[in-house]
Amino acid sequence: MKTYIHIKELVTLKNAHAKDGRNLIPDDLSIIKDGAIVFNSDEIIWVGETKDLPHEYQQNTIDLTGHILTPEIVDSHTHLIFGGDRASEYTERLNGVPYEEIARRGGGILLTMNQTNHSSADELYQSAQKRIERIASYGVGTIEVKSGYGLNFEKEYELSLLIDKLKKEFSPRLQIINTYMAAHDVPKSFKDSAHYMSEVVIPLLEKLAPLKIIDNVDIFHEKNYFTDADTTLLFETAQRLGIPAKMHGDELNDNGSASLGAKLGALSIDHLLKINDQGIKDLAQSSTVATLLPGTAFFLGKPLAPGKKLLDAGVKVAIASDYNPGSCHCDNVLMVAQFSAAQLRMNMAQTWCGITLNASHAVGLKDQGALIKGLKPRFSIFKAESLSHISYHWGHNFSVKLT
Ligand code: NIG
Ligand code: FE
Repeated sequence: MKTYIHIKELVTLKNAHAKDGRNLIPDDLSIIKDGAIVFNSDEIIWVGETKDLPHEYQQNTIDLTGHILTPEIVDSHTHLIFGGDRASEYTERLNGVPYEEIARRGGGILLTMNQTNHSSADELYQSAQKRIERIASYGVGTIEVKSGYGLNFEKEYELSLLIDKLKKEFSPRLQIINTYMAAHDVPKSFKDSAHYMSEVVIPLLEKLAPLKIIDNVDIFHEKNYFTDADTTLLFETAQRLGIPAKMHGDELNDNGSASLGAKLGALSIDHLLKINDQGIKDLAQSSTVATLLPGTAFFLGKPLAPGKKLLDAGVKVAIASDYNPGSCHCDNVLMVAQFSAAQLRMNMAQTWCGITLNASHAVGLKDQGALIKGLKPRFSIFKAESLSHISYHWGHNFSVKLT
């Protein structure tokens, strides 16, 4: 058992948790000043003000004067296992060639596919390891990692196993979520997306499922990528195999992704730059999380998702980095959330809940995300004057690790 005392601000998100992360007002941060928290390796046992700490917990306390404790920061959407880079494509984009055109010419995801297939398992493992350590250095403790740059049976299989190896290596310090996303793009050797689904995506999922290493599946529901029928097939297969499903949707076009995902019971729908009004209504009535990836919109030079409209409608909103080699080469979800909050018109409770509570729900973790009795003791620690100062000085790294 461990006890932290004199925590300058203990950001519990107690109210936010009670409200299921929706319709949040600033007070829903539920900050305790001069707080204390008692926990063992499995759960939080007591939370309150230091002055009220029960006698039985007053042994071997750790003084956290000057520190801020928040529910663990979760990056719920990354594509961090890949070979090569796309720096030259980025320069082309700055020089005026749209992302979609580069993709049509066989660049984009397909270029990273080639580079990934030319990288050995060791190279992929080591580069992913370094990226994970860098993300952790910002104070992020749970990191979702998608496969999806192998795009053939053998390489996608290897990627899923590598993610599992990373998960085991980093546990319990970091929690890696293994998301299967062979349905990321359709290699040119396949007739169409349905052909690729039936040859690779579905049979490989059937092979991986009994290994019990896949936490979630994902698919890029988008014009020229994967259709309604492909998405429905993947969701139904995953459901039969007992694996939750999520999707990329309404990113480059309004594809009706939000309504489709809400109907299929998606864990989350991510991007949503082009979501329509019906999609917003459908999400509000579902438990599906809308994950915004503002770094991607910035990096692609596109308008952000309609954050305020989603929040006002009562949708559960998360923010993630979308760290990947093409559409968002930025791995710092805290910075992304902080600099985009004003543009998305998110208050402090919505922003912090977006990278903690709602982000954990977006990857299927219901047992963390708030600092309340009974939940898992997963938190991030910062050395700062206040939570406000962390948001205010965006891009600065306030994270500290206790030894
Ligand atoms: O989330 N939208 C699809 N996948 C990635 C882009 C990947 C890439 O450009 O390599 C995304 O933005
Ligand atoms: Fe993505």
